[in-house]
Amino acid sequence: RKVGILISGRGSNMSALIEAAKQPDYPAEIALVLSNRPEAAGLRHATDAGIATGVISHRDFADKRSFEEAMDERLREAGIDLICLAGFMRLLSPWFVDAWRDRTLNIHPSLLPSFKGLDTHARALAAGVRVHGCTVHIVRAEMDDGPIVAQAAVPVSSQDTAESLAARVLGAEHRLYPHALALIASGRAIVEGERVRVDAEAV
Ligand code: GRF
Repeated sequence: RKVGILISGRGSNMSALIEAAKQPDYPAEIALVLSNRPEAAGLRHATDAGIATGVISHRDFADKRSFEEAMDERLREAGIDLICLAGFMRLLSPWFVDAWRDRTLNIHPSLLPSFKGLDTHARALAAGVRVHGCTVHIVRAEMDDGPIVAQAAVPVSSQDTAESLAARVLGAEHRLYPHALALIASGRAIVEGERVRVDAEAV
């Protein structure tokens, strides 16, 4: 299974996926990294890892449709089967989501459906939750919505700041995303409507 990763920035989750996919028995190959921002730090890491990269800047297009068509075309040219969003900061249009339906994953830094959107760690602290975490889900047109593939829980301490909590969650993200992608790429996890079924043996 060929995977294309979309990023906008740092790309630490992208790096975790690239690292995991180096294992000979990993069921997916990272074939392409696309960024909508030319200055994204992740592009350099991908190039250093020998992965093909491309910049498709939304600023170069008259509208969202043509920007997304350019991404769609590049992904198809590269023979991509699955897309992983990894810190990709543009909301994808329904037509794009439909074109890649059940074949697009996203990682979000909260235990969905809690804390959709931005600033999840500060909001989790403000809400006083004792457990926080991260989620890999199948992308639907609504932001941070869609069938859940895998989640990891992280304890919240009374001493936590948004930064310390973010760092703990990020560590969990880097373990969770490679695991979730492997589940989907190997067929051990299957999207059934709005839920994901995971083989009992694989849990
Ligand atoms: C991660 O926290 C991810 O969950 C969120 O954006 C952040 C991206 O970080 N969607 P990175 O670019 O993968 O380092």
